[in-house]
Amino acid sequence: MTNIILLGPPGAGKGTQARRLVEERGLVQLSTGDMLREAKDSGTEMGKVVADVMARGDLVTDEIVIGLIEEKLRMVKAKGFIFDGFPRTLAQADALGALLRRSGNQLDAVIEMQVDDNALVERISGRFTCGNCGEVYHDKTKPTARAGVCDVCGSGDLRRRADDNAESLKQRLMEYYKKTSPLIGYYYATGDLFSVDGLRDIDEVAQSIGNVLDQAKRH
Ligand code: AP5
Repeated sequence: MTNIILLGPPGAGKGTQARRLVEERGLVQLSTGDMLREAKDSGTEMGKVVADVMARGDLVTDEIVIGLIEEKLRMVKAKGFIFDGFPRTLAQADALGALLRRSGNQLDAVIEMQVDDNALVERISGRFTCGNCGEVYHDKTKPTARAGVCDVCGSGDLRRRADDNAESLKQRLMEYYKKTSPLIGYYYATGDLFSVDGLRDIDEVAQSIGNVLDQAKRH
């Protein structure tokens, strides 16, 4: 089993690379952001609670997101998981370690995607996604081949996120630096941390992540 965390600030490219790893390595992507947006769109009680928190750019409580991950790990059978946007706090990191140990599994690599703040603003402000299949696009760096139509599934349901605006992004970055960036030291100490240059183009970043995974396997 291969279990990987993609760690990085909003817009670092975690979702983009997670989708490639699903395709290329047959792993299952567990994105807490996607799970929370699904709950919000389907109007569940939990979805209503998290909607405002997410729109502001704050973190949802540890209890909610750990519960979501716990349920997925119990229900989904896979040869490995890509944790995308989870863990985001030290409490979440401890909980994930315990959940994996309980099922006799472990982490293979934590991949820190390094991108500077100016690039993040540029990436977030140009992002749109397919509401049907989840493919991630960008106005400049990854436009659709035909305007308004998803390259992957042909859907015309292309969306921009409610939290992809300047004010929420500022708050998301603050939350990242305050609560999530300490995980870099945490996973350095456990010996699981690998860093890649997330400023390179999408194929080059994918190549670097592939190299990390091959290296991690040999450990
Ligand atoms: P979440 O959905 O996880 O958002 P995020 O962490 O802010 O990350 P993003 O999805 O914005 O960015 P990404 O790194 O996936 O980048 P992407 O590949 O799309 O979380 C949203 C909210 O949910 C949080 O604010 C919080 O409220 C809540 N939440 C979620 N998880 C939680 C948790 N564990 N605990 C508490 N609360 C939680 O790429 C961005 C753009 O750049 C795209 O347009 C893409 O095409 C482009 N791009 C990607 N890579 C490159 C490249 N190499 N070069 C050029 N362009 C690129």
